[in-house]
Amino acid sequence: MATFSVDSVRARFPAISRHVHPPVFLDNAAGTQVPQSVVDAVADAMVNGSCNLGGKFSGSRRAMDIWDAAHQAGADIVGAPSARGVIIGQNMTALTLHISRSIGRLCQPGDEIVVTRMDHEGDVAPWLLMAQDRGLIVRWVPFDKISWQVSPDALRAVMGPRTRLVAINYASNLTGAINDVRALTQVAHQFGALVYVDAVQMAPHHLPDVTQLDCDFLVCSSYKFFGPHLGVLWGRESVLDRLEAYRCRCVSDDLPGKFEHGTSQTELMAGLAATADYLASLGDEAGYSGSRRERMLGGYKAFEPHETALTLRLIEGIMAIPGMTIHGITNPNRIAERVPTVSFTHDRISTHTFAQALADQEIFVWSGHNYAIEPVRHLGLDEDTGVVRLAIAHYNTAAEIDQVLAALSDIAK
Ligand SMILES: Cc1ncc(COP(=O)(O)O)c(C=O)c1O
Repeated sequence: MATFSVDSVRARFPAISRHVHPPVFLDNAAGTQVPQSVVDAVADAMVNGSCNLGGKFSGSRRAMDIWDAAHQAGADIVGAPSARGVIIGQNMTALTLHISRSIGRLCQPGDEIVVTRMDHEGDVAPWLLMAQDRGLIVRWVPFDKISWQVSPDALRAVMGPRTRLVAINYASNLTGAINDVRALTQVAHQFGALVYVDAVQMAPHHLPDVTQLDCDFLVCSSYKFFGPHLGVLWGRESVLDRLEAYRCRCVSDDLPGKFEHGTSQTELMAGLAATADYLASLGDEAGYSGSRRERMLGGYKAFEPHETALTLRLIEGIMAIPGMTIHGITNPNRIAERVPTVSFTHDRISTHTFAQALADQEIFVWSGHNYAIEPVRHLGLDEDTGVVRLAIAHYNTAAEIDQVLAALSDIAK
């Protein structure tokens, strides 16, 4: 059933298909390209929905429809039971900084929170700031350097009766390792702590399911999964209802509006709904039917073998180049435990040299810590040079992987 055509996908992305020799986009963990349908939806909203919300006139009603559709898209993306718990904002970091102020109000001085050595700064710094503001104790949980994951036992070891929050990533933006978030959530809940999941790197490759994970919050960024520059935060409604929002006095106490400040980015919200439709269309093409969420799940299922094949090809190719070390899971039998983001260092050549040489050939990759400061430190890597990060998306091709491998080989000579 799971048919997937990378050629047909690429034809839908103008940034890729308008070039005879398109750049090789392997910077996807930092941001993905968008299909034409998303571009069109954004443009259409700027023409037909560029009014503020809450007015009696048709333009405002149209903007409100866009707002509603975007929140429903957010619910479909994270598997939420309703759109009431979906908060849309500038990006993951802004949303996390914002909600952390409210979560902090639930905590008393001397309470504890848990953050990890595996997370991106966006899921570390807001909690450190919250701890500073509220007089909280920060407990750190490491990831295992063999499994690359945070184990439930490691988490249990830092939990206590006063732990109020566990902030954990679903997949690492540096190593690509995926955590067993459901198991970690179970541990956290045994101690009565809230669980905040950073799904930014997971969402482009596996659709999160907040119901199955049983977490209390989950956040992702739509520009990482072929959409506009927005963040989507889901919160358990009973928790969000309890939280005091930092908001203007004339904003109502209703969800989710109480957590969305100022004027909405309506055109980007239109793009978010179109992104969910794009992902569902991949399911349609592979013969899936049902709700949009079911069709999206079908789409992900359809492109998974393609992404896996590219990842294995990339890992195998990098490992064949003398001097290379991959920082993440390389065992093909564990490939399902990682996303297709592959980071490496070389024993002689700087990561920045690789990234520049690849950039000179229109191969887009990142070098440095990639905001994964804690993982870089935990691995004993240099904070400035960090790693070279190659991040695959479903629109990449085997030919592109071969091209980058040939280039890496040349640079390493
Ligand atoms: C795992 C992870 N978390 C959080 C972020 C921050 O996302 P944003 O830039 O949308 O705030 C990123 C960005 O790369 C990320 O990879």
